[in-house]
Amino acid sequence: MAKLPPDEVLLMGPGPSPVHPRVLEAMSWPTLGHLDPEFLTIMNETMDLLRFVFQTRNRLTLPISGTGSAGMEAALVNFIEPGDRIIVCVNGVFGTRMADIVGRCGGVLIEVKAEWGRAIDPDDVEKALDDNPGVKAVCIVHAETSTGVLQPLEPVVELAHDRGALVVVDTVTSLGGIPVKVDDRGLDVVYSGTQKCLSCPPGLAPLTVGDRAMELFGKRSSPVQSWYLDLGMLTKYWGKERVYHHTAPVNMIYALHEALALIEEEGLEPRFERHRVNSAALVAGLKAYGMSLLPPEEERLPSLTAVLIPDGVDDAEARKKLRFQHGIEIGGGLGDYKGRLWRIGLMGHGSRRENVERALRAIGAVLNDLGHKCSADEALAEVDRVYRTAG
Ligand SMILES: Cc1ncc(COP(=O)(O)O)c(C=O)c1O
Repeated sequence: MAKLPPDEVLLMGPGPSPVHPRVLEAMSWPTLGHLDPEFLTIMNETMDLLRFVFQTRNRLTLPISGTGSAGMEAALVNFIEPGDRIIVCVNGVFGTRMADIVGRCGGVLIEVKAEWGRAIDPDDVEKALDDNPGVKAVCIVHAETSTGVLQPLEPVVELAHDRGALVVVDTVTSLGGIPVKVDDRGLDVVYSGTQKCLSCPPGLAPLTVGDRAMELFGKRSSPVQSWYLDLGMLTKYWGKERVYHHTAPVNMIYALHEALALIEEEGLEPRFERHRVNSAALVAGLKAYGMSLLPPEEERLPSLTAVLIPDGVDDAEARKKLRFQHGIEIGGGLGDYKGRLWRIGLMGHGSRRENVERALRAIGAVLNDLGHKCSADEALAEVDRVYRTAG
């Protein structure tokens, strides 16, 4: 028999992340009808709050009913028709997933690759654009959760727009923790997920679409292959017409509304700074344990730290101890990094000093148990130094 309710686990993996108590409470509010006038007001406010967090004025800004992968599919199936040339930047699991979807849409896939653990080189995107005239879109992951890499977007956007291509961006592990700046950067189609830096449970995928992309959507010659994710129909439900399309997950939308309201209360800049400082503190502590980070400093995500496991320490054993002796979940490596990497999330409500310190104490204890000698006191002194410097 499952233990219900489960004991609380400190979620410090690649997601889901800790959910704010106010968000959990919002989920238990009375369910309204999905076309009830009061619920429609909540939907409108949710769209406005999403515009605030995405930093955009895009009219089409709404949560897709489904997880981050549904956001990814919506961002691709609505704009790709068979035969379209699409560049996908691949440097981890989620670029690989985008490439898979492009193929399923009948797009002609052009991959631009970088080694896992490194950002995509804009020169490689430029070459792919030059070698393939008429590319319709360049797809790229802002925060590659499989490797902890933060992708600088501006150079890629400039190259793509120079050649008339759209830019589709995955912000699943960045939205709400790292500036996304949809309008400033001119991003055309951007999606995310609720379970990372927004501090909601998994279940919705915020999406925003700019004018350039909407214009291309309007010129499609074939129907969108997915009925459920067709933005033409979705905007009739979320827009003025309010035409029934599917039954919105009402209580999840309450949760998202509350999570976004919390972000508005905190302010975007203080929130980004909080993510930056807590991650710097975690990194300082891990380094004091003699551990090395996978991405170089300038390509590191503040929301997710990818750190190499010290030689001789068994990954599965260590994560089991963290989970069952210390009540902390962290993530393991994927692909070639399976067994060699830990992914430690500090996202949204989870990005707090007390979590940094608790995780470092637990990791220190587990490393010592498994033969890697290190001092938690030294690590915590480094952590303290980071917080004192940050003020
Ligand atoms: C960068 C990125 N994109 C897409 C996804 C897919 O989201 P989901 O698992 O919610 O479907 C994830 C999930 O971790 C992710 O980290």
